[in-house]
Amino acid sequence: MTDTLALLKHRRSVPPQFLAAPGPSEAQLAELLAIAARVPDHGKLVPWRFIVFAGEGKVKAAERVAEVFRKRTPDAPEDKVTFERNRLLHAPLVVAVVSRARKHEKIPVWEQELSAGATCFNLLIAAEAMGFAGSWLTNWFSFDREVLRAFGVAEEERIAGFVHIGTPQTRPADRERPDMAAIVSHFGA
Ligand SMILES: Cc1cc2nc3c(=O)[nH]c(=O)nc-3n(C[C@H](O)[C@H](O)[C@H](O)COP(=O)(O)O)c2cc1C
Repeated sequence: MTDTLALLKHRRSVPPQFLAAPGPSEAQLAELLAIAARVPDHGKLVPWRFIVFAGEGKVKAAERVAEVFRKRTPDAPEDKVTFERNRLLHAPLVVAVVSRARKHEKIPVWEQELSAGATCFNLLIAAEAMGFAGSWLTNWFSFDREVLRAFGVAEEERIAGFVHIGTPQTRPADRERPDMAAIVSHFGA
């Protein structure tokens, strides 16, 4: 079995709480993003872009999430606000994959959005191949326009995912996988 097959067969997401420093170096980050951008893309529209959250920028972003959460739920106890702030603080690196799919005369928006999903997964696989681990998450603030504005996401853009990347502190046991017989059919059989 090739290394690629072994990685794909055994890869598992690791939740951000279990992703610690060190994260990717600047050079590794550049390589990861270049790999993430190397996905099938009908029409070569590049219907996605990346926002990197690391260091001080990540701390500021987490604070914005906490602020908006407080505004949305003014009665929330402080530990819940801390919980929400921490969502972006666990992993040393978080990359937002932003879908910028738009109406096109030939390429359906659906296909552009699928390409953004491929980008998220390529990023996850590449991070694993580099010895890191990650998680592809959205969370409520992916859909909160006030948070998204603060992150520089335009009204016509959407979040495909926040990919959290770091050094795994644990490897969770595998989860149940689909029953292949239930999802595979052979046309004409
Ligand atoms: C677009 C997308 C968004 C997701 N958002 C969340 C989320 O907000 N919270 C969560 O617990 N899991 C979320 N997940 C699922 C996690 O990625 C989950 O840990 C993953 O399905 C585990 O799969 P694996 O074991 O094959 O890596 C999301 C998955 C996708 C594809």
